[in-house]
Amino acid sequence: MKVKETMIEGMYQLKIDQKNRLATKNKVPGTNVYGERLIKVENEEYRLWDPFRSKFAAAYLSGMKLLPQLKAKNILYLGVSTGTTPSHFSDILEDGFIYGVEFSPKVMRKFYRLAEQRPNLIPILADARRPEEYSSYVFDVDLLYQDVSQPEQAKIFGRNAQEYLKPGGEGIIAIKSQSIDVSLEPEEVFSKQMSILENNFGLKVIEHSKIDAYEKKHAVMIIKKE
Ligand SMILES: C[S@@+](CC[C@H](N)C(=O)[O-])C[C@H]1O[C@@H](n2cnc3c(N)ncnc32)[C@H](O)[C@@H]1O
Repeated sequence: MKVKETMIEGMYQLKIDQKNRLATKNKVPGTNVYGERLIKVENEEYRLWDPFRSKFAAAYLSGMKLLPQLKAKNILYLGVSTGTTPSHFSDILEDGFIYGVEFSPKVMRKFYRLAEQRPNLIPILADARRPEEYSSYVFDVDLLYQDVSQPEQAKIFGRNAQEYLKPGGEGIIAIKSQSIDVSLEPEEVFSKQMSILENNFGLKVIEHSKIDAYEKKHAVMIIKKE
């Protein structure tokens, strides 16, 4: 089997049954997280990374060119849920940490168990709309990642970026238009959210794309803080 590097360090492409699939090297060999396949290639175990379950993988396969590298970063991740995408970030990270914020105690229980196996995941049971509540647990980060289905997604991102993102830091926000306004066309919702990020919080959206092939009515934006 052929393993190829991708533009993102630590994310690989495997050719399986004539199809290219994304994967990371499994930090906890023999264990999967969300039912994904484990594939052994020359003494190394890979976990397939499902773009229908992870907006980062969906954004990559939708052709986004400016997705930030993850390997040498400390990451604040808003909306970790049970840890699908965070588990792949955890595979990729070298020395950094992922501060994982989630407000649902039920899904957080699963994330706690994942963090027991993966010491670079730091679970924080909190509401991302109130970033001041986790200031004792989170140090400034290089990357802010957000995937929360809330009406004020850009505002939540902006407030967390003000509080925790280092100057020069990068961000990724997955925007679900249906959680913001079902009466508007998704494009209109995306452009309003972009304008909040740029005009209200002084952030720069350097790339944006819909990820319709994987998640309907969703967009991903890549952000830079000056
Ligand atoms: C789409 S899921 C995230 C999936 C995850 N990012 C992944 O790729 O594996 C959205 C999560 O955001 C959480 N969430 C929504 N609003 C939140 C808030 N205000 N604070 C923290 N978590 C929130 C939900 O409970 C849910 O688990």
